[in-house]
Amino acid sequence: MRRFIFSLALVCSYAFKSAHSFGGAMEGLEDAMDIQREQLERLGDFLGPMNIPSSAPAKRQSSITFSNPAAEQFFVDGTKIPLVNFDAGPSWSGLMPISGDPNETRKLFFWFWPTNNVSNTKDLLFWTNGPGCSSLEGFLQENGPISWSWGQAEPTPNPWSWTNLSHVLWVEQPVGTGFSQGTPNITNDDQLAAELMGFFEQFLEVFQELKGNDFWLSGESSDDDRTVRRVLYVPYIANWIYEHPGLDLNLKGIWIADPSLSYGVVQQEIPALRFARANQNLFPFNSSFWDELQAISDKCGYTDYLDDFVTYPPAGQLPLPVATNGTFTVTQACRIHSPIQRAVGVLNPVFDVYRVSDTWPNLWSVLGFPRSTQEFVQDAIHAPHIVWNSCADRSVYLPGGDRSIPSTLSVLPNVIEKSERVIIVHGLADFILVAEGTRIAIQNMTWNGAQGFQTPIEPETFSVKNMGVYGNEHTERGLTYVEFYFSEFVPWASFSTLAYLLGKQDSPSSG
Ligand SMILES: *[C@@H]1O[C@H](CO)[C@@H](O)[C@H](O)[C@H]1NC(C)=O
Ligand SMILES: *[C@@H]1O[C@H](CO)[C@@H](O)[C@H](O)[C@H]1NC(C)=O
Ligand SMILES: *[C@@H]1O[C@H](CO)[C@@H](O)[C@H](O)[C@H]1NC(C)=O
Ligand SMILES: *[C@@H]1O[C@H](CO)[C@@H](O)[C@H](O)[C@H]1NC(C)=O
Ligand SMILES: *[C@@H]1O[C@H](CO)[C@@H](O)[C@H](O)[C@H]1NC(C)=O
Ligand SMILES: *[C@@H]1O[C@H](CO)[C@@H](O)[C@H](O)[C@H]1NC(C)=O
Ligand SMILES: *[C@@H]1O[C@H](CO)[C@@H](O)[C@H](O)[C@H]1NC(C)=O
Repeated sequence: MRRFIFSLALVCSYAFKSAHSFGGAMEGLEDAMDIQREQLERLGDFLGPMNIPSSAPAKRQSSITFSNPAAEQFFVDGTKIPLVNFDAGPSWSGLMPISGDPNETRKLFFWFWPTNNVSNTKDLLFWTNGPGCSSLEGFLQENGPISWSWGQAEPTPNPWSWTNLSHVLWVEQPVGTGFSQGTPNITNDDQLAAELMGFFEQFLEVFQELKGNDFWLSGESSDDDRTVRRVLYVPYIANWIYEHPGLDLNLKGIWIADPSLSYGVVQQEIPALRFARANQNLFPFNSSFWDELQAISDKCGYTDYLDDFVTYPPAGQLPLPVATNGTFTVTQACRIHSPIQRAVGVLNPVFDVYRVSDTWPNLWSVLGFPRSTQEFVQDAIHAPHIVWNSCADRSVYLPGGDRSIPSTLSVLPNVIEKSERVIIVHGLADFILVAEGTRIAIQNMTWNGAQGFQTPIEPETFSVKNMGVYGNEHTERGLTYVEFYFSEFVPWASFSTLAYLLGKQDSPSSG
């Protein structure tokens, strides 16, 4: 891959020379090509350290070893993962039952990676993706030691792997997700958390040396149209652990990205039109359609909502807009998010609601099409031979979906109060859940004795090492909120906020 970058840089410098011969009139073009070439050279740093195969490469050592012989069957040799042409380091993966019942049929697929830094072996971080979606998404696309994201022809080491900061446990959960086994029979996220507790207990029996570690939960939301209310698991799991002591781990905090924190009216409908207007080059609508949208927004109480009610501190509980007719569900005539998404999808066939900056062509993904993980990696990671989908094609809840109450209106305040730190991050290019909607949800939540943030979220307060300002940050009463430029898929920014969660940095910023 890196060789490719360098040859691309050569092509650019050739083009640069041709442009140069045109003389002064082409100065701007010359500069642009020069800058492009510098950028391509710098891209090498984003691909991680290149391992040049030698005749007798020294295998990477684990920062932890396990004495229970049962651990052995889960061991994965990091030099032998199919298609991964570098030593990814040692790891452990496979199926773990969610109870000690020898007849237990429900088993969750996990992949445990030790930290590569011996100073960090007292931490254990859990990661999950959103409803029914595999945690291998986060692993390969954001935070695992092997990066194989959209459009990457082959896997590369990830310089921002979270294993630099902590032992990390990626789990495909709940039952019904990914390689995990069993028939889903839950109806809410307390039941989900109870099942996961069973898994943790079984896991710690095999990997006993992790007992007593500091414990952190992390995850991101994902869309699931089948469930009316989309609730992120992580706050519920944390709440369950705090309220049901007994797990031999010391839970200290959570990190959640682009989470579902409230109802659709809050996180989608109210901020949708402001978002589209602020990103007008990516939502290039005709003027009559803008007029239609504006009319809906005015009629339904969205237009001035943020300016009127999202104040610091808030003036009182935030009202629901007239659009809801007194419920949390928007009336048909006041739906504005879906019409915007549908219309932009006609103009941009590869519109990605999670990252609106994507344009043609569509990026290939090893997790999706044309082939999926299971076809080449199953045996190496002790996964069952079943059809694997990145997001389950059936609900992971019983019919009726997840009946939990959104976390800002239920468990999140308790979790913040019991944690050392809680971090919510939100990508500014995310349209499935909009950052301004997350601000509404936070300002309407009461924790640690007050409602919402008392002072404003100042712009340009979050920065990343070697990059500079990378968004906005605010911390109050144990809750940190960070808005990232671009999307949630900016691993350097996530890495920095995670270092803060784990107490290895004294602010979310690293720059
Ligand atoms: C497991 O299933 C077998 C066969 O159905 C049954 O005989 C046995 O009692 C079960 N064991 C437990 C612990 O439930
Ligand atoms: C290992 O972690 C410690 C503590 O977090 C940190 O100070 C040190 O810089 C890390 N080492 C490397 C090589 O990243
Ligand atoms: C993570 O660790 C690897 C290996 O020690 C190192 O090359 C890389 O720079 C580290 N990444 C960060 C963000 O510190
Ligand atoms: C799901 O089914 C199992 C038996 O397979 C049962 O033990 C468990 O209580 C059920 N869970 C719920 C939430 O109904
Ligand atoms: C704010 O929270 C209160 C209850 O705490 C709720 O009644 C109200 O509907 C919420 N408003 C919004 C916009 O979510
Ligand atoms: C609003 O709610 C009332 C009472 O539930 C109902 O009669 C009315 O049709 C609703 N209006 C709209 C626009 O949905
Ligand atoms: C304007 O945009 C809307 C929504 O994309 C579309 O339905 C309509 O056909 C467009 N009108 C023209 C004249 O292109």
